[in-house]
Amino acid sequence: MLNRSLAGHEGAAAAAGQQAPHEAGQSGFAADLARALATRPRSISPKYFYDARGSQLFDRICELPEYYPTRTELAILSDHADEIARQMGPRAEIVEFGAGSCVKVGLLLDAMDRPARYLPIDISGQHLAASAAQLRAQYPELDVQPVVADYTRRLLLPAPVSGDGQRVGFFPGSTIGNFTPAEALHFLQVAGQVLRGGALLLGADLIKDPAALHAAYNDAQGVTAAFNLNLLARANRELGADFVPEQFAHSAFYNAPLQRIEMHLVSRCRQQVKLAGQSHGFEEGDTLHTENSYKFTIEGLRALAARAGFRPGPVWTDPRRMFSLHWLHAPA
Ligand code: AVJ
Repeated sequence: MLNRSLAGHEGAAAAAGQQAPHEAGQSGFAADLARALATRPRSISPKYFYDARGSQLFDRICELPEYYPTRTELAILSDHADEIARQMGPRAEIVEFGAGSCVKVGLLLDAMDRPARYLPIDISGQHLAASAAQLRAQYPELDVQPVVADYTRRLLLPAPVSGDGQRVGFFPGSTIGNFTPAEALHFLQVAGQVLRGGALLLGADLIKDPAALHAAYNDAQGVTAAFNLNLLARANRELGADFVPEQFAHSAFYNAPLQRIEMHLVSRCRQQVKLAGQSHGFEEGDTLHTENSYKFTIEGLRALAARAGFRPGPVWTDPRRMFSLHWLHAPA
């Protein structure tokens, strides 16, 4: 499982009388999809891609020949693991935003000097439990404390343990690219608060030849199309909607002026869709915007982090400069 998305502490959420995470996710999807269908332009958060089926499809995307980000980031991590581990220092703890990348965090843990604790944060309790179990089995000495939460909303983490090293946030996969620039700034400000005195290790996909970007989101096997269309199938399964997925087309393109890949679901005909007793009309060509994936320059990403109060440190990249990994010192 590779990294997907999303944050608060399990216990803290329960104590505050919040909904169970799966319930929060469900009602969030129902309300957000209803809102998306009633609004122009129609647009919904990509976090709803990741049900069990969507997570499976995402794992397959990461294996595709056209989808370079995952394998490139893994190569950067493994090529520079010792240098990254030196930045982390002894007895550090890792806070991962979006659990799942057992492979990626494993590369860090293997290189680190006596890692103290691992706090994976994810919106899916099930997904978290699975990756926590895997990590505990692999690193019996490691204190693994999963945190079920939506890190785009709130962040409540267990207090640092005295005597431990620094707290290092890990946000790989260029998931930061799913946020608008304003949301990315807000996320970095919130992350800066929970990582105070520590650092953030952040993966960011780089601006490159639009043809290479286009291919990465339009793979020959159609896995990305299936991933996009799964959103409609999920709405049918979970919300009793009556989307006919065959009547929608996957569309992904690089919007160069906005420096982002956009994914849409495009209606192939005039049709009506029912959701929660409401009928929604689509004309042929109408779209539901399902994802933005922003691309960055190294300097642009450093400037964004600096605006959120981080002090940019070393940057690691691959020889072809496809992807970047940033060490960002959190505010004191
Ligand atoms: C997990 C958000 C980094 O934007 O490239 C992959 C998700 N969408 N193919 C990305 C995704 C379509 C991915 N992130």
